[in-house]
Amino acid sequence: HESEISADSVERGEYRHYMQKEIFEQPRAVADTLEGRIGPHGVLPNIFGIDADPILDKTRGIHVVACGTSYHAGMVAKYWIEQLARIPVVVEVASEYRYRDVVVPEDTLFVAVSQSGETADTLAAMRESRRRGYLATFAICNVPESSVVRESDLRLMTRAGPEIGVASTKAFTTQLTAFALLALDLGRRRGLNEADYLQHCKELQSLPRYIENALKTEPQILAIADHFIAKQHALFLGRGAQFPVALEGSLKLKEISYIHAEAYPAGELKHGPLALVDENMPIVAVAPNGPLLDKLKSNLQEVRARGGELIVFADERAEMEDGTEHVAMVRVDGGGDLIAPAVFTIPMQLLAYHVAVQRGTDVDQPRNLAKSVTVE
Ligand code: G6P
Repeated sequence: HESEISADSVERGEYRHYMQKEIFEQPRAVADTLEGRIGPHGVLPNIFGIDADPILDKTRGIHVVACGTSYHAGMVAKYWIEQLARIPVVVEVASEYRYRDVVVPEDTLFVAVSQSGETADTLAAMRESRRRGYLATFAICNVPESSVVRESDLRLMTRAGPEIGVASTKAFTTQLTAFALLALDLGRRRGLNEADYLQHCKELQSLPRYIENALKTEPQILAIADHFIAKQHALFLGRGAQFPVALEGSLKLKEISYIHAEAYPAGELKHGPLALVDENMPIVAVAPNGPLLDKLKSNLQEVRARGGELIVFADERAEMEDGTEHVAMVRVDGGGDLIAPAVFTIPMQLLAYHVAVQRGTDVDQPRNLAKSVTVE
């Protein structure tokens, strides 16, 4: 095994784990997803396949089906596509979708999201969708020769490169990037005004830079990880498109640190999770700038009033200094509505990673989990 071990350390380079390396590869990975697909005048033609135009012009509804982290990417996409293209989106985990008697309205597009393209439930859901009368099937995937890609009509490859860590990181942010391209393209087809369209395209092109910047929070996150080492539970809160980011943050923490974590849309706090809040349960909140900030702040005050240790990832522009006490606050420049979910994902990944490292778990190969679940 000696040669394997040295090959492995060469691959990881300066990084201690593949997961850390893959977290830091994200500016490059996202730039690769965008390369040759978006330019100064917007999303380039034919990037979803040469047959895509008539299908995307006709699309009046979208069903997104995926598992795990890929499912969270779909949840973010729902906010984007509904806002930019005014097309209703339903997102569902593949294991539920495949056995459910789904209603498929006319001209609905089926979208499968999968890093590997071999997840058993996602593949089976896609095959099942063939019998359910969709307009077409569309794959967002990282492996060009995979089953999901081979069996889809349209596709956009994420180009994240090989992901070795079982907990998905760069696959997720590149899936978000692929979805943003789709949302913008559909937006243009469905009457999004030209100025907004171009503005958002420009914002998307700046995503690698904002991710680069968000990675600089690592030293701060390293210190915050201390709060979690001895804890058994954690709660993640977000609102709007940051709710799926909170879900993804909690999934990362569960997967690699084995701390029980849950995510809630912050507005649901009073409907249950508040009963659990005390000094033993740290709360991580994503606070981007925007219309929901004030509502989130009042949610956070409720948490503080119950003695919960609050860790806030806040946008640089968000005014947070008005009495919201917190144990730690990390400032992140989210860059704008569209890309902020991808940017705020970074500190979440770093937090899970450093908590796991400090707890001494097998970060790249968490117990009981597999990189690709190819059996039901
Ligand atoms: C497994 C992996 C996750 C991944 C999920 C879906 O659970 O551990 O990281 O998100 O499968 O995989 P896929 O390849 O379909 O994206």
